Amino acid sequence: MSYNPAVLRLPVITQQRTLGTGSHSLQVSALGFGVMGMSYNRGPHPDRKAMIALLRQAAEHGVTLFDTAQVYGPLVNEALAGEALYPYRNKVSVTTKFGHCIVDGKYLAGKLDSRPGTIRRTAEESLQRLRVEAIDLFYQHRLDPDVPIEDVAGAVKDLIQQGKVKGFGLCEVGAEAIRRAHAEQPVTAVQSEYHLMWREPEADVFPALEELGIGFVPYSPLNRGFLGGAINEYTRFDSGNDNRSILPRFTPQAIRANLALVEVLNEFGRTRGATSAQVALAWLMGQKPWMVPIPGTTKLAHLEENLRAADLTLTPEELRELDSAVARIRIVGDRYPAALQRQISR
Ligand SMILES: NC(=O)c1ccc[n+]([C@@H]2O[C@H](COP(=O)([O-])OP(=O)(O)OC[C@H]3O[C@@H](n4cnc5c(N)ncnc54)[C@H](OP(=O)(O)O)[C@@H]3O)[C@@H](O)[C@H]2O)c1
Repeated sequence: MSYNPAVLRLPVITQQRTLGTGSHSLQVSALGFGVMGMSYNRGPHPDRKAMIALLRQAAEHGVTLFDTAQVYGPLVNEALAGEALYPYRNKVSVTTKFGHCIVDGKYLAGKLDSRPGTIRRTAEESLQRLRVEAIDLFYQHRLDPDVPIEDVAGAVKDLIQQGKVKGFGLCEVGAEAIRRAHAEQPVTAVQSEYHLMWREPEADVFPALEELGIGFVPYSPLNRGFLGGAINEYTRFDSGNDNRSILPRFTPQAIRANLALVEVLNEFGRTRGATSAQVALAWLMGQKPWMVPIPGTTKLAHLEENLRAADLTLTPEELRELDSAVARIRIVGDRYPAALQRQISR
């Protein structure tokens, strides 16, 4: 795949948002970019050079938040982000995550390790792969039941004091863990699944974030591509490298039922010149000013489509209209199978 600037129609994203407060805040583009799917969990991994070019296109067009993790690959996704974004290192923020157990380059599925010594060691390794002097935001990927959250926050606090990390983040946590961590080291952002098919954080997480001045990064903002409308009951997911193959919402039966929601988004978008993906992203950006979605893509056309969603501002009335249309659809299937859901403690 090569990119011909003459045919590029990418808009530049100019809207900015702030995650977190005061000296713990991070200013980024209103829409970020999730790097994961370029080498993990989203099926065939396209040519690495083409993905480097695509990440650079995103940076050239104003995206300043890029999200990766040690476990994606494992390790190779961080290296991809590091190489692609090296020319932009003082202009963009690259966030990464620790906490899954990786030994000799292999991910030990289901095992967690947020011991302070591991956090310190893997921070050094992430710095090397990301080719940066400081990690912009270092998230704990999942709570580790064997390590108190205060010890995790303390380890990241030390790294911040040493100048190796700039901000602290948490993923898939409930309000109590957020409060305990924040008391030890102010949290810049919480990253959890949130989109039109999964709204759990609204109940207890958002009020805590609002009160404490913490930003929110909704992951899988298109529900892993589903809300983009290109998936149907005949779509097959490779069990070797695509976790949608084990997600209850991606069985043919669930997909067939849940496509009714995509039709609602298409219908809503039709009169506004917007696709279902753009409506889904605009809905997210319309929820809170301190929210920055991170859709992932391997395609220039989807990058363009997603960037244009930042220009679709929904009024409170439009958001209510969309909410009430969506509420009429009954979503079929759990978001995670039981084993993965158990890693998410509230
Ligand atoms: N903290 C966590 O535990 C956690 C968990 C999961 C993900 N994440 C983060 O969230 C990021 C995004 O998550 P995700 O990849 O799971 O889900 P996503 O962004 O909701 O969806 C990505 C999928 O949507 C497709 N897509 C993108 N734009 C599209 C468009 N305009 N129309 C139709 N399809 C479109 C992509 O396919 P194409 O390549 O064909 O465009 C890709 O397969 C990840 O990269 C990662 O950084 C974090």
